[in-house]
Amino acid sequence: MHDNEPAKLVALSAPKALTDTRARPISDLRISVMDRCNFRCPYCMPHETFDDRYRFLSTSERLTFEEISRLARLFVAVGVRKLRLTGGEPLLRSGLADLVGELSSIDGVDDLALTTNGVLLAQHAAELAANGLKRVTVSLDTLDPETFRRMSGGFDGLERVQDGIRAALEAGLAPVKVNAVIQRGINDGQVLDLARQFRGTGVIPRFIEYMDVGNRNDWDPGRVVPSRQLRDSIAAVYPLLPVAGSYRGEVAERYAYADGAGEIGFISSVSQPFCGDCTRARLSSDGVFYTCLFATQGTELRALLREGAGDDALLERIRGSWRRRDDRYSELRRLPAVERPLRKIEMHYIGG
Ligand code: GTP
Ligand code: 5AD
Ligand code: SF4
Ligand code: SF4
Repeated sequence: MHDNEPAKLVALSAPKALTDTRARPISDLRISVMDRCNFRCPYCMPHETFDDRYRFLSTSERLTFEEISRLARLFVAVGVRKLRLTGGEPLLRSGLADLVGELSSIDGVDDLALTTNGVLLAQHAAELAANGLKRVTVSLDTLDPETFRRMSGGFDGLERVQDGIRAALEAGLAPVKVNAVIQRGINDGQVLDLARQFRGTGVIPRFIEYMDVGNRNDWDPGRVVPSRQLRDSIAAVYPLLPVAGSYRGEVAERYAYADGAGEIGFISSVSQPFCGDCTRARLSSDGVFYTCLFATQGTELRALLREGAGDDALLERIRGSWRRRDDRYSELRRLPAVERPLRKIEMHYIGG
């Protein structure tokens, strides 16, 4: 009898890992800290919708740093190991480095990253690194000033973005990655320039298939350039070798230059969906928990926080929502017979 007791105790004290209906654990939390952006990329926040009359969140509607940190701790308690700060544009949130300091002190966080358009990065990189940010990913779709202007919705920030990338390298926010969304007829002719620019610099460019995020970007499948095609055109000039993935749920397919000049990646959520391994959760700037980039609804956490709920109640809501999770939008996109959701959450609320 007594012999059984220790085993029983262990079984009781080791909580079962939290998984969804498709046995996917929760391991990655993307936190949008700001719904506004200083760009108006037509594929994300087109001018026609996001003009002077558009109602962004008010300061009191956004989660405070204290609320974000508290929720991050709870997400870590249910299995999250990687945190990524996103937007809109996260560097528009004043004092962001303070939040980074709080998040980096949470036990169990193995990785803390930031996705930014890079315009304000040069002035913040050193402080972010000092406060515990590990790495940054900069969105940059082209190196041609005219195309940059068009793809950012009319801004002249290319040099500032490049300064931001340099500052991130100097601050040791490595590996610095560059995300380029490729659209046929717009910037697909500049893929080789992007690859060439970052060879030998330590920066990892990643080419992303243009996706149908949100409701307003007027998505046209004809504008998606399959990653395979891009990979073949780069490999014809700079031979590539496949690199094994580094963690479950990694979205990029990785390749190294055969001559040792670095690495590039391809994110192919249209031609090769990766929902089967998707371990990502998303927290919007107003405190809604989403289990898919293409979600139509989420789980409200802000009201619970502000009503004074204890950790147990919040944890129960988070766990319940993940346990019910059945999302696999990108896989379903390929099936013409499946009806797609009509109103998806906008990307600037939940980051990329
Ligand atoms: P690493 O942590 O460096 O591997 O980066 P990451 O791939 O987790 O993050 P990043 O923000 O750089 O993601 C790159 C892009 O991939 C995003 O901007 C989206 O366009 C796309 N993406 C990221 N996560 C998902 C996802 O869960 N589903 C889909 N469909 N696309 C995603
Ligand atoms: N398709 C693919 N990627 C997108 N991003 C924004 N909109 C889209 C889209 N429609 C990317 C941005 C950035 C990240 C936040 O999401 O380029 O890298
Ligand atoms: Fe801003 Fe990034 Fe959206 Fe462009 S893609 S509008 S930079 S959040
Ligand atoms: Fe994950 Fe949804 Fe993207 Fe599929 S479509 S990989 S479930 S976020």
